[in-house]
Amino acid sequence: MVLAGCGRQSTLSPRSPQAHDIRTLWWWMLGIATVVFLGAIAMLGLAWIRRATPGLPLVGERETVPQALVLLFGIAVPLVVLVSLFGVADVYLVRQTAPPSPARTALTVDVIGHQWWWEVRYPGTAAVTANEIHIPVDTPVNVVASTADVIHSFWVPQLARKIDEVPGRQNRVLLYASTPGRYRGQCAEFCGFQHANMSLFVVAQPRAAYNAWLANMAAPAASPTTATAQAGERVFMASQCASCHEIRGTVARGLVGPDLTHLATRRTLAGAEIRNTPAELRAWIASPQSIKDGSRMPNLGLSATEYDEIAAYLEGLR
Ligand code: CUA
Repeated sequence: MVLAGCGRQSTLSPRSPQAHDIRTLWWWMLGIATVVFLGAIAMLGLAWIRRATPGLPLVGERETVPQALVLLFGIAVPLVVLVSLFGVADVYLVRQTAPPSPARTALTVDVIGHQWWWEVRYPGTAAVTANEIHIPVDTPVNVVASTADVIHSFWVPQLARKIDEVPGRQNRVLLYASTPGRYRGQCAEFCGFQHANMSLFVVAQPRAAYNAWLANMAAPAASPTTATAQAGERVFMASQCASCHEIRGTVARGLVGPDLTHLATRRTLAGAEIRNTPAELRAWIASPQSIKDGSRMPNLGLSATEYDEIAAYLEGLR
């Protein structure tokens, strides 16, 4: 419990009205469950004391006492507890489960689950990114959640409830952030070997910063400027990289892996498993299987120089 409560991904530090409701409901559940637990322990203690005290009749020897106990704790108490919990849950969850109406939301973002990363698209613009969703603060965002393969579940605990991504379906959830910040999210449905390493960040920023970010995301890739980066671009286009990844504005049009057009602007790599630093990017390209075992990204078998060049090229994609 202590470990689950720390870090940047706690339901108990909500940053949206929706997440506030979920926290309130969580406290109600915890409070009532605590009372039930303590009651059960008290009954257990009572039984133990009665058995240990000589001369007292055992439960069962007097007919009226056990019947009353069964009626009280077997029917009356559970009924009261479950009905009140149902009432409390209903108040909060009805608001949660209503899908966001397009009229109330200013922006739609497509979030597509893959084994094991998140594709993020901004309909109406050319912007495509991965594992990082930027949204303007104080703005209701309609997230359309779908999957390219198996069932995933999109969950950013500080901002919204979970939404499953089910093959053949499009589900929707309202994403809203009251304060600017980076909010960690996580796939919440077991989806294979690297399910635990399928994370993402939601970056909520002021409107102007968001608009600048989106404009940059929608633009085609920058051309490499240094000789190393230019060599890296040639290696990238000639090798397997280009058949799996798209870099808009180049011949790389693959749709298997994440769009890399502005890779260098992202804070993390590989479903937020590692940071996007030059050293970690180089290590990831050179040996993805030793960093994320089972990942769809293969070890390419290129030379050390070629990995350096590809890394230099990708570092320039801002
Ligand atoms: Cu995707 Cu678990």
